[in-house]
Amino acid sequence: MAFVVTENCIKCKFTDCVDVCPVDCFHQGPNFLVIDPDECIDCTLCEPECPANAIFAEDEVPEGQENFIELNAELSKLWPVITEVTKPLPDADDWNGKTGKLSLLEK
Ligand code: SF4
Ligand code: F3S
Repeated sequence: MAFVVTENCIKCKFTDCVDVCPVDCFHQGPNFLVIDPDECIDCTLCEPECPANAIFAEDEVPEGQENFIELNAELSKLWPVITEVTKPLPDADDWNGKTGKLSLLEK
């Protein structure tokens, strides 16, 4: 199993999650982060750190967002590792909680 970043990270990217990951398995795209499922050790530390509540254990991903399990696996192989906290995206607070953001995901 692994932890999974889901839709609410899109256009927020607060990056607090990155600070606590002991194995540096977060990867960064233009407006979204993903977790490499091959590296995640299920330590659970990142889940409570996300201000957008976007991180879930694989078996607890909300209904309708199961496609993010595959997206994390796929995009983590393409995107670079991020190990340091950065500024959230502009308007992150406005986007926090909005639904239907998948179409806004930039790859
Ligand atoms: Fe990293 Fe732990 Fe979160 Fe997995 S559960 S992504 S190892 S902080
Ligand atoms: Fe995204 Fe939450 Fe991390 S918004 S960048 S998963 S802290």
